[in-house]
Amino acid sequence: MKTKIFLLLATFFLSNGMLAQKFDNLAMTPPMGWNSWNSFQCDGVNETVIKEMADAMVETGFKDVGYEYIVIDDCWQIGRDDNGYIIVDKEKFPSGIKSLVDYVHSKGLKFGIYSDAGTKTCAGRPGSKGFERQDAETYAKWDVDYLKYDWCFTEGQDAITSYTLMRDELFKAGRPIVFSLCEWGENKPWEWAKDVGHLWRTTLDIDMGARYDGNIWGNLIGWSDLVDMQVGLEKYAGPGHWNDPDMLAVGNNNMPENEARAHFSMWCMLAAPLMAGNDLRDMSEVDHSILTNKELIAINQDVLGKQGFKIEDYGNFEIWQKPLTNGDIAICFFNRETTSNTYEIDWSKIRVKDFEGDYKIKDLWKNEIVGATDTTLTIDVPSRDVVVFRLMK
Ligand code: GLA
Repeated sequence: MKTKIFLLLATFFLSNGMLAQKFDNLAMTPPMGWNSWNSFQCDGVNETVIKEMADAMVETGFKDVGYEYIVIDDCWQIGRDDNGYIIVDKEKFPSGIKSLVDYVHSKGLKFGIYSDAGTKTCAGRPGSKGFERQDAETYAKWDVDYLKYDWCFTEGQDAITSYTLMRDELFKAGRPIVFSLCEWGENKPWEWAKDVGHLWRTTLDIDMGARYDGNIWGNLIGWSDLVDMQVGLEKYAGPGHWNDPDMLAVGNNNMPENEARAHFSMWCMLAAPLMAGNDLRDMSEVDHSILTNKELIAINQDVLGKQGFKIEDYGNFEIWQKPLTNGDIAICFFNRETTSNTYEIDWSKIRVKDFEGDYKIKDLWKNEIVGATDTTLTIDVPSRDVVVFRLMK
């Protein structure tokens, strides 16, 4: 009898969304994967590209170092049927999304999809507004693992209500799906989205043309400016809920090696989701070695889940810290000048938080121990580049 009453109550609450919540125990470290937008945008994305990218993720060793999500961004959808169910663009995806999901899963990878909280997506495809239930059910039926949910064409909508509605529908649909909010930081999601999604964009889009700084057309932002926009947000991030400064632009538009190393290192320090945006089928050895650097990825994926923060700012030369498990500390020296900088580190002077006793110093890009913190150390940081250390007991 008791069981019956419990089941009745559970069904009642669930069907009314009252027990709805986000799925727990997902994205306990920042999600890693690949997203189609930076290289392919709307016109270039199709079934072949996605399959080949899944193949490449395995063949290039990306999967082995932790990349797992293959995310189709905008432009896979074309309309809705009479019952409000989404219609896939058959020209680009002739076999349908379910078979693509199965293909990606057969490679041991996970599959991500994209929609929008408004009437249309940013590229003008059908949005989910008014069809949240059908869409959530569809993603669950297709065995999708990750949803990026955008914020175009949402005039008059409240962000918390709209994102919570989709969270609830995903939960009711019953398949654990990582929920990635993409409202560009407009409504300060870091203040309210911890119980709504697993990651949230903090800014407008990174410049997929890979520029270092500056705003282009007012909404594409150079990656170094995105770093500045993360200052102060560290207290909002943790396992299962991450600040997202947008996808990686490493490998896009021939980003120079020094900038690519600095960009990737800063994303690792920030505990940012690592979503590669380059063409994995055709990348330089340098880009490959940067994106798959295990020492740096270990900083990003550290299970403590602390986002790094700036501890010293000398104008164009900055020092960042990220606390790690077992009392280890990652330190990143970021030179934003157009000339190199020689810097003498006096560990007793820089304000490293929770710095206790002496540490061995491992240079993570050289992958070697370069000294200990009981003496000063002089480093040379090239222009728009970094030196990243792991301080170890
Ligand atoms: C917005 C998002 C981007 C991308 C495009 C797709 O600009 O912020 O990341 O998803 O839409 O149209």
